[in-house]
Amino acid sequence: MTTLHPTSIGAASPRLEAREKVTGHAMYAVDRPMPGAVYAWPVQAAFAHGRVAAVQTEAALGIDGVLAVLWHGNAPRLEPGDDPQMLVLQSPEVAYYGQVVALVVATTLESAQEGADAVVVRAEVQPADTVLRADHPDLYEPETVNAGYPGRLETGDFEAGFGVADVRIDATYRTPIEHHNAMEPHAATAFWERGRLVVYDATQSSTTMRDTLAALFELPPQLVRVHNEHVGGGFGGKGFPKPTAVLAAMAARLVGRPVKLALSRTMLFAMVGYRTPTIQRVRLGADAKGRLLAIGHEAFAQTSRLTEFTEQSAVISRVLYGAPNHTSRHHVVRLDVPTPTVMRAPGECPGSFALESAMDELATAGNWDPVQLRIDNDTDRDAEGLPFSSRHLVECLRRGAEAFGWSGRDPRIGSRREGRWLLGTGVASSTFPAITWPSTATARATADEHFHVAVNAADIGTGARTVMRQIAADALGVPTHCVEITVGDSAIGQAPVAGGSMGTSSWGWAVTKACLALRERIDREHGGRVPPEGISVGADTTADIAARGDYSRHAFGAQFCALRADPRTGEVRIDRLLGVFAAGQIINPTTARSQLIGGMTMGVGMALTEQTILDPRTGDFVTSDLASYHVAVNADVPRIDIEFVPEDDPHLNPMGSKGIGELGIVGTAAAVANAVYHATGIRVRSLPITPAALL
Ligand code: MOS
Repeated sequence: MTTLHPTSIGAASPRLEAREKVTGHAMYAVDRPMPGAVYAWPVQAAFAHGRVAAVQTEAALGIDGVLAVLWHGNAPRLEPGDDPQMLVLQSPEVAYYGQVVALVVATTLESAQEGADAVVVRAEVQPADTVLRADHPDLYEPETVNAGYPGRLETGDFEAGFGVADVRIDATYRTPIEHHNAMEPHAATAFWERGRLVVYDATQSSTTMRDTLAALFELPPQLVRVHNEHVGGGFGGKGFPKPTAVLAAMAARLVGRPVKLALSRTMLFAMVGYRTPTIQRVRLGADAKGRLLAIGHEAFAQTSRLTEFTEQSAVISRVLYGAPNHTSRHHVVRLDVPTPTVMRAPGECPGSFALESAMDELATAGNWDPVQLRIDNDTDRDAEGLPFSSRHLVECLRRGAEAFGWSGRDPRIGSRREGRWLLGTGVASSTFPAITWPSTATARATADEHFHVAVNAADIGTGARTVMRQIAADALGVPTHCVEITVGDSAIGQAPVAGGSMGTSSWGWAVTKACLALRERIDREHGGRVPPEGISVGADTTADIAARGDYSRHAFGAQFCALRADPRTGEVRIDRLLGVFAAGQIINPTTARSQLIGGMTMGVGMALTEQTILDPRTGDFVTSDLASYHVAVNADVPRIDIEFVPEDDPHLNPMGSKGIGELGIVGTAAAVANAVYHATGIRVRSLPITPAALL
């Protein structure tokens, strides 16, 4: 590739839309002024299992401004597809507490809310089963788990390897229900225009949302357009289609006006997904020198009556270390609860808490240094036997240990004190798959030497459009200011979700391909001059991705934590986090660093404060706002340092990039828990580490 401006990839560049956002000019899903727009407000089921016997709407319809009440008796019919969660207001059956059972549409938000309060729902309620247990009689082993991994993997003979090990750990870890809590709630504006459906949706994929709406309303996809120019955070919560846009579109069809629907914070807890609680049994067996002979990881998760979604929590044990004998299995149970979904680093995030806590327990039991134990169990193949395309976990651990000052560590528990505080340090490894999915992109040159590049990326606060412009400029060989970038519109063309940490690699490959093709056409067919009418080129990476070699592609990292704990109050204060990551070519160190700091910050919340409590008597989430669900706030977040280990991987994509959106949260909670153990001698195997856990 001719690169006249080699600084565009790898340049620390601020976000293009930063000013728009901080000045309040960025338009999110329901922000756009729209003449004649009306408002919708849901009515939720106040029981977890049963059916709606009657919906009484007369009182609501009598309220000034109320235009309609949708319920299963009068709502537009939807075409059933493969996700029953989308079939809102289609049947009287209720599968979880908080499921939408009616939708009030009114000329003002206030009258819609008043109308919702006036709707009377008569129900036939059945007993509900809402609690995950490892001995639940209805547990089963799914064939595949989220992201398509086989539910079960066995290599060698786990029981034999574990049986002859000199040092063994057999421990069970728990993680609670967690909620994404993006700043922008799930929200949508929808209107119909001469048979076409137009939606502004808070989604991580306007392509998928467009296809979903088209299927539900039996429309050709080209008659549906989904915009998501700005999205106020996702964390996976907006990764799969959500009913918000469906409800808004149904209501808009019924009342013949644009409808705005923004869920309240409390509604989000039941209506748009969460991270399953997990129970994870990890068994590790090592020889006398600290070489793993057997790795066993068994994960239990819940799903709903509607859809099977199984978090892939044991998959990380197929990747992080090598052992001749391996078993990893998943169990799931259908409960009367909402369907869980992907949340930042699904699988690897809860899985790393279990595996990396167990590695720390193994280090203690064998009297080995936790960093060295990890280095000694590095591997060049995953448990399925595939070679890694690149892997610099050892380099991350070494560099991290050096930068953190690990070598001076006294491994004895509580060996360092400062007044009322016991000080401790801990380490954990990180990893996340480097995924690339097919995408399209277009590049257009105008006669005045300007370039317009369009790719249906979703910028969920990550800086996606900023790095897409850098990638485009690099491939075109022009300065970034010559490139205009458009994202966030299903009309641009097919592109994968801003999820699975695959965005930059997937969209960036299509952008690179389109830009290189455009450059070549300008040079070859037009002698380096753009004709007055301009030139346009489209690209699709489906075949390129299919042609890649068979490798296990993952980013890696090492996290170090220094903290203090007060054994009398149970208070934990983190002093410092250090993350060293190897994630291929870093396109933009500024936005990359922010992603990793963000991930580690979310990891601090996971470690110390975040948990959603479900009331088993009702199936309702009792923590359902930011006052009761504690995300890490500024005062909880310590100094976080990020370093990158340079990595050149030819088996990924033209940019050589791996994803970084999820890598940062993987391992953080274990690093914290391991440091808590070092400080206090208390091994907390159940998150979060509340003060009560240390008393
Ligand atoms: Mo991420 S949980 O795949 O948005």
